[in-house]
Amino acid sequence: TQSKSSNIVWHEGTVGRKHRELLNQHRGFTIWFTGLSGSGKSTLSVALEERLYQMGCRTYRLDGDNVRTGLNRDLAFSPEDRIENIRRIGEVAKLFRDAGLINLTAFISPYRQDRDMARNLSQRADNDFLEVFVDAPLDVCEQRDPKGLYKKARAGSIPNFTGISAPYEAPEYPEIHIRTDETSIEQGVDQIVAYLIEHGYIE
Ligand code: PPS
Repeated sequence: TQSKSSNIVWHEGTVGRKHRELLNQHRGFTIWFTGLSGSGKSTLSVALEERLYQMGCRTYRLDGDNVRTGLNRDLAFSPEDRIENIRRIGEVAKLFRDAGLINLTAFISPYRQDRDMARNLSQRADNDFLEVFVDAPLDVCEQRDPKGLYKKARAGSIPNFTGISAPYEAPEYPEIHIRTDETSIEQGVDQIVAYLIEHGYIE
């Protein structure tokens, strides 16, 4: 949707993304984790961030539970609110890419169309938006139930719970697909880092 403001003119600075990327010694890009609650998005993104930090990369991580206490604390879990949640995160991720940082986002982001919207905010020919499908079957996530939310959802006390009473649309063409029921966190991190090196994102 268009901006509600009128008479606004983009003001370009003299220090740009290229300068910041040169200082950081790597490109700015987004690693967008998507998956069911309990699939391992947060765990994997934290572990990856630690590895990237050890490699000298500049990162910034955005996580659903955290962002929902601040920037998005006015949003709940209706379809409309989830769309707005992901729209804002997509815009914030764009800012972090422009800041020349490696931006890791961990949101269920259940709708394909919204993830594509976040991706399409990038206008770079060299892809700077990598979707990571954090994939574990629903019954595995439900068994893990780290926050006891599936139990509550089954009991009917959480409406619109993803996988139970709200949809999750799995990515069709994610850059990276990780089966967290078959691989360890370390193996998942290795898989992502190998992709990043192979495709020239980091050295
Ligand atoms: S979304 O769908 O992308 O807008 O969700 P996100 O911002 O990632 O927030 C998901 C976390 O919120 C908790 N929670 C719920 N998840 C799904 N459905 C419902 N109804 C719900 N209510 C609360 C839950 O802790 C999610 O965290 P993760 O880390 O995914 O388990």
